[in-house]
Amino acid sequence: MSMSLKKTLLSQRAAGLAPLSVGRLAATARERGAVDLASGVPLGNPPEAVLTAATAAMRAGRNQYAPAAGSPQLRAVVAERLSRDRAVVVDPEHEVTITSGATEGVLAALLACVDPGDEVLVPEPWFESYPGAVRLVGAVPRPVPLTLGDWRLDTDVIRAAITPRTRAILLNTPHNPTGRVFSAAEIAALMEICVRRDIVCITDEVYDSFVFGRCEMTSPLDLPSAREHVVAVGSFSKSLQMSGWRLGYCVAPPALSAGLRRVVERTTVCAPTPLQEGAAAVSAASSGAENFRATRDAMVERLAGAGLELFHPEGGWFVWSRIDRVTPLPAAEFAVRLLDEAGVLVAPGPAFFDDPRDGSRWIRTSFIRDPEIMDQGMKRLENFLRTAAW
Ligand SMILES: Cc1ncc(COP(=O)(O)O)c(C=O)c1O
Repeated sequence: MSMSLKKTLLSQRAAGLAPLSVGRLAATARERGAVDLASGVPLGNPPEAVLTAATAAMRAGRNQYAPAAGSPQLRAVVAERLSRDRAVVVDPEHEVTITSGATEGVLAALLACVDPGDEVLVPEPWFESYPGAVRLVGAVPRPVPLTLGDWRLDTDVIRAAITPRTRAILLNTPHNPTGRVFSAAEIAALMEICVRRDIVCITDEVYDSFVFGRCEMTSPLDLPSAREHVVAVGSFSKSLQMSGWRLGYCVAPPALSAGLRRVVERTTVCAPTPLQEGAAAVSAASSGAENFRATRDAMVERLAGAGLELFHPEGGWFVWSRIDRVTPLPAAEFAVRLLDEAGVLVAPGPAFFDDPRDGSRWIRTSFIRDPEIMDQGMKRLENFLRTAAW
């Protein structure tokens, strides 16, 4: 009786959201004390200056609502950082909106740009939260597969997926899960399509301070002629190691920013005031790619040594590996066996695809780990692959 009542009370929107798969497995892994190589959680704490400024703001009575656009100081820091690190000029007053993490940033951007029944292109494999976010706003996610193995944006595939209902593309660079940093040429080709077809590019750039080697961070924001069609979403979660503070931002042209701010006013009102003041205390990203180059290289080398085929990550926090040379099991089953028998958690591929079967040969691991933890996890994984009876 109560079950059927619950069923009817739940909206189709909520009922249609599957639990996030990595979260579910991670709970089991935590209970068992397994080595978690799957999730992307920052290792350390925010810089001392940030902690001091946030607590000082609380003590000084800065505990009430902030403007929906966000604290002017934090917006200025966002603009300063984009200008200094990426030579992107934005007006903090009219083009920057502070959000509760990139997660709210993406949702607010979708709510501001997309109507129910519209279609949103999402490069695939994708960050697991995206299709649910698109469905929450009543729109339809349309997968646009990246080229297999080298994970490039394929403009023919993108063009073919566009319909009269296409309103946006949800890009992510550096890319989770593949580690791709899309090139200037790929971004330019994509934005030419967006401008011509009047499609908004919502670009999630939460890993913009994690780009390795000779690769350069390129963003649709870099193209002045496309700026009217870009909402760039950023986050302090990764760059200042404060994923629990829920601070992010959107950069968009003034008219879109005004819409975004009206959405924020009606969802969260504003991001937490004293935490915004804390985050404004430092303008630099505190932990960049260099801090994790060694663990990235070690993880890549060991996964390849164990027989997995992988893309050498150019940015972000993850290695995306193909497992079918080392096991006959599909990825979901492989991940459960690995957790049960070796005490190691990896993220199985199906959650990153529209059709879960397309992910059955792939797993994602994160190299944002203490070197000893990574070593322990990799030893267990290597041993499992040497000894497993399939
Ligand atoms: C691609 C991508 N976007 C957004 C997020 C979430 O960012 P935030 O903590 O700012 O909501 C993550 C976190 O893993 C991510 O990988």
